[in-house]
Amino acid sequence: MKIQEADFKKIISHCKEYGYIFQSSEVYDGLSAVYDYGPYGSELKNNVKSLWWQAMVKMHENIVGIDSAIFMHPLIWKASGHVDAFNDPMIDNKDSKKRYRADVLIEDYLANKIDKKIDKEIDKAAKRFGDAFDREQFMMTNPRVVGYMEKRSAIMQRFTQSMADNDMEGLKTIIEELEIACPVSGSKEWTDVRQFNLMFSTKMGAVAEGADTIYLRPETAQGIFVNFLNVQNTTRQKIPFGIAQIGKAFRNEIVARQFIFRMREFEQMEMQFFVRPGTEMDWYEHWKAARMKWHQALFPETSVRFHDHDNLAHYANAAADIEFKFPFGFKELEGIHSRTDFDLKSHQELSGKKLQYFDPEINESYVPYVVETSIGVDRMCLAVIANSLMEEEVPDAKGGTATRTVMKMHPALSPVKVAILPLLKNKEVLTTKARAIFDDLKFAFNCQYDEKDAIGKRYRRQDAIGTPFCVTIDFDTIEDDTVTLRDRDSMEQIRVPIAELEPRIAKKLDLRNLLA
Ligand code: GAP
Repeated sequence: MKIQEADFKKIISHCKEYGYIFQSSEVYDGLSAVYDYGPYGSELKNNVKSLWWQAMVKMHENIVGIDSAIFMHPLIWKASGHVDAFNDPMIDNKDSKKRYRADVLIEDYLANKIDKKIDKEIDKAAKRFGDAFDREQFMMTNPRVVGYMEKRSAIMQRFTQSMADNDMEGLKTIIEELEIACPVSGSKEWTDVRQFNLMFSTKMGAVAEGADTIYLRPETAQGIFVNFLNVQNTTRQKIPFGIAQIGKAFRNEIVARQFIFRMREFEQMEMQFFVRPGTEMDWYEHWKAARMKWHQALFPETSVRFHDHDNLAHYANAAADIEFKFPFGFKELEGIHSRTDFDLKSHQELSGKKLQYFDPEINESYVPYVVETSIGVDRMCLAVIANSLMEEEVPDAKGGTATRTVMKMHPALSPVKVAILPLLKNKEVLTTKARAIFDDLKFAFNCQYDEKDAIGKRYRRQDAIGTPFCVTIDFDTIEDDTVTLRDRDSMEQIRVPIAELEPRIAKKLDLRNLLA
């Protein structure tokens, strides 16, 4: 059984207990929405980043990578619109003193008070009519469902309009009319809605006085835009081409909950694809499909889905999320945006420098349009962990059953690939042989040598951190140079010659299995 269906708290405590993720500054009682990655978490994170880099940069001749600085000229954030428009509407409950995002309160109302009722009616009818049930027909004709849908669409229309118009009073009126209560206190006493800018700022220079205010970047994308011509000139890429980057981003989120899902310091993997104006919708569809395929190689099809945006960001003319079924429901994992020429044009205007491309095929210069793919490394790690952490009933040594906790993640993402285990710790002949195997395999894979505790306990420990292979060295090994190779998922154990270990394991880790 997947733990994600049972208990999100178990995932969080497993991450702590097994060295994946710790609360930042824990000895000082923690820092809200900031997390540190432990020994296994940092390996997982590196593997996630390297899989993305492989899929995006190494597998595309027309995508190159960069690594731009976190600090950038403050005017970049003016041009990008972040100084004026990177806001979330904030509202406080007067009784509980809890702070919320006004848009999230309304979206939660729609999901919990309307969508759930519609789903319930559909489930009931599906059971009643069995195979003869026609979902679409039912939704169009059932008076109760039609009523809910009409209510939903009326609220949605006002909500979308208020967001588009920056109408904070409008948002408050919707919250009051829907009688939305604070989830903590149950109180409906709300403050006014205010806009809150999410960028962190600091001062650059030795003396704060008169120093320039600079921002910690809230997205890595702008580092790509302002380097567009540098990269194009130095790599002689022709449009269409992409620039990819992995790096930290910072947002002063109003409400940061749900572990590493919404953090104030996080990491993004972004790719901006520069295209000829007028072709952006084809490329938008192309990247939507390509990115969905990447996720479907790692997750079951029912765990990922598209969600088209109703509210478009200030820079986009089309946008969709790839949502993952997290333990707390389907939520955004990756965004695909058609960003038009908004960013390059704004930088061109504010900097006074031309950011144009001469297209030899049509003999014309233009500001390229951009299609962006943007995914959070941390969210991807959470998705991988939630998808792989399981509890299973397995036979125990006494003929009964026991529960094993196992992380069945793709071997390419597992922090440790092979555990090298001498059967007994106090038999030098075994430990020496095991060390020799470890010293050889460590050049090919991330290996762990472990001789403490009974072999069954050591297998469980490796299951819990997601190690796909265990190699056990016993007395037969000394005789015939064979070892036991144990598979994490099936728990099957086979006898293989030591010389076969590396090619067998490498075959399972081959990225062709995932990306071909
Ligand atoms: N450049 C476009 C951009 O930044 P976004 O939808 O705001 O778009 C892209 O963010 C991705 O970054 C999201 O899909 C999510 O995976 C990740 N992300 C955004 N805010 C985050 C946060 N506070 N904590 C963790 N990940 C976050």
